[in-house]
Amino acid sequence: MDTDVLRDLRGPSAAAGGVFWQTERQLMVFDADAAARANTDNYADLTLPDRLLDLLLRRRSTPVSWKRVRSAWMAQLRTLSGEEGLAALDARMDSLLRARTGELLNLPWLGHEVSFRSLLPIVLDGLSSADSAKITEDAIAKLARLMGEAEEDPPWWRSWRPVSIQVKAGLVVRRALRRRSRDTTAARTDLTQPIAALLGELGMDRAVDAVTAVLTAIAGPPGAAAACVMYELVNRPDWADRLAAEFASAGTAELYRSGTRCAPVTHRFVKEVLRRWTSPTMLTRSVRTPMRVAGHDLDVGQHFVLSPAMVHQDPRHWRDPEVFDPDRWLPGAPHGPAGAQHYVPFGWAPTACVGAGLGLCQLVLLCRLLCTTYRIELSRPATPTMAIGPVPLPLGFDGRVSIRGRTNPKV
Ligand code: HEM
Repeated sequence: MDTDVLRDLRGPSAAAGGVFWQTERQLMVFDADAAARANTDNYADLTLPDRLLDLLLRRRSTPVSWKRVRSAWMAQLRTLSGEEGLAALDARMDSLLRARTGELLNLPWLGHEVSFRSLLPIVLDGLSSADSAKITEDAIAKLARLMGEAEEDPPWWRSWRPVSIQVKAGLVVRRALRRRSRDTTAARTDLTQPIAALLGELGMDRAVDAVTAVLTAIAGPPGAAAACVMYELVNRPDWADRLAAEFASAGTAELYRSGTRCAPVTHRFVKEVLRRWTSPTMLTRSVRTPMRVAGHDLDVGQHFVLSPAMVHQDPRHWRDPEVFDPDRWLPGAPHGPAGAQHYVPFGWAPTACVGAGLGLCQLVLLCRLLCTTYRIELSRPATPTMAIGPVPLPLGFDGRVSIRGRTNPKV
């Protein structure tokens, strides 16, 4: 595996001021201001695509604006990120870590597992364990592709498997939506509920797609970020100690109540992890409407690529961008961000991540668990390295999680 897909793009990007054609049909837009404008122009009138049935019958569906779906999710997320919601998320992460103590693990996969499984009830609550397993299997299959671990050229009898897994997961979502539309007592406080409420306007296909979009969103970047948090905590024991000291004075109740505010050192640490090891690395966009980006004309059918990771490594705006230093987030730090537009771990409006606040809180809670309750012990003394593919991936990062204060007989 090439360990840094960004390396070959840095030279041409610097020479062209951050915007250049990679192929005849694909414009790379790595300049922060140009990226923000391109994304706004491309999604100015974002409505959901027509329903499959209407496409087949060659008629238009009731238009539903994506903004409306996003606002409904964001309203629900305000409740889910409240005191009770964060306490429940923390408890789920705790029990997932506890269940894995003592096992020899691939730690990036552990990051994905803890992150995805603890977020799943926030997206789709009340699943039976069989249905939850189907959704998780689909997420694992998608992640394996993202992490370059999917089988290449499988024999024909295995090539249909990912499709079958995806269909089964889609049926679980469909059943949950149908149940909620028929039975008001099946309602839950999760991100599927606002979609169930819009079912009449959306139709089943578009509703399933909307819920699947969130399931896909929680199956990639949050777990990759969790793996990178683990990587930096292991590599920087001095920072792990600083975080532990902060958690010793900030109680968990206060953490649930005020989110990241009562843990400023950990907040800086997490922000720097999301800057230095940004996930996803690239966002590829199909051009939806003719537009001009930094002097380049783009037409429908062409593509442009945005990269929060390249924006975070742009030496025009970041001093020593390759240095991991959470203190660059101290107010007035000379090596801090040149402006808010140069820090975009959650993407750009109008499609920016709806779960940004919750994602940050989840990482702070994970830091607390790993600095106060659990300890990561690597199985090899060698320092792991970071590979930059579609998401950053620590390599050679295997080990065990143990409970602090208890010796692990298997290490
Ligand atoms: C550290 C954790 C997370 C990171 C780094 C992250 C990052 C991102 C990024 C970069 C995008 C793409 C934005 C774009 O296409 O312009 C995105 C989209 C999205 N994220 Fe997150 N995310 C995180 C956590 C979450 C969580 C916890 C949720 C929900 C519970 C969530 C839900 C979504 C959704 C629904 C979208 C699609 C938004 C749209 O297309 O309008 N994310 N996320």
